[in-house]
Amino acid sequence: MSLQAAGMLKQYLEQRQASGQTHASLRPGTLDRLRSSGKPTPARAPDSRRSVVDTAKMEPTAPPASALFEMPVAIPSRLPQKAAGILAVPGQNKVEKLSALAAMAEKSTQARALGTLRDTMVFAVGNPDATIMLIGEAPGFEEERQREPFVGPAGQKLNGILKAMGLERSQVYISNICKFRPAIEGNQGTSNRAPTDKEMASCLSYVLTEIAIVAPQVIVALGGVACKGLGIGEGVMRLRGRFYDVHGVPTMVTYHPSYLLREEKMAGGGIRAKRECWEDMLKVMEKAGLPISEKQRGYFRQ
Ligand code: URA
Repeated sequence: MSLQAAGMLKQYLEQRQASGQTHASLRPGTLDRLRSSGKPTPARAPDSRRSVVDTAKMEPTAPPASALFEMPVAIPSRLPQKAAGILAVPGQNKVEKLSALAAMAEKSTQARALGTLRDTMVFAVGNPDATIMLIGEAPGFEEERQREPFVGPAGQKLNGILKAMGLERSQVYISNICKFRPAIEGNQGTSNRAPTDKEMASCLSYVLTEIAIVAPQVIVALGGVACKGLGIGEGVMRLRGRFYDVHGVPTMVTYHPSYLLREEKMAGGGIRAKRECWEDMLKVMEKAGLPISEKQRGYFRQ
């Protein structure tokens, strides 16, 4: 490949990276065209409208880089990741850094200034050295009471999924895209609601910093809200079952455990949702390098 072609390629890939794209695939024949771009262009018949140029002295022409690539296969990570930075956190190790980060989240002026989130900050739970990090929506009534994510009914369901994967809660890292329980006007009681985009955005830098500190091998976005908050996109049905890049970490989108609980109550017992969620989790196990038994592979086989 000529220097010129290499330079254009580099420039093109850098532009794509800067716009948040993480994948590029080559069109058929591209490699051959790049290889031959180092060879001099055949001389053209002189054109009377242009001054005559000695083509042997010309820089070899490279195909425009945009002509070489297909659209990216993976959906690129979007803007919220760029807008929210990773915070500088003091500490000698992961535990110290995470506890310093939790103290910063506790005082979050941005989240508190919204006036739509409740007072108690619920940070995260689990192993700071975990290879798998799970990210849900926001604490609910029970999570706020115990100051721990996923301890209510959805948490019981999540524990069941982890158990099927051969994991304890203490082996993974569990967090939420919003660190405060969203408030409902009037007498909230045990009612919960999903966080709004603004509420998620106010906590995003804490979540991204957690990702940077824990440095898991794989993230699981539990449900459409977390998926949107992480900047992957909207529509869990469409997006689930595949990995997306979130700050360099492959991130699987799957159903929220509360959705599985709701589906269980429907006719058919929510078997489709459970099977699809399990298929997603098998991919997560593979990505994390966990052993998978034949029994585990066969859980939902007919
Ligand atoms: N649902 C979530 O998304 N997170 C929790 O912590 C609890 C329920």
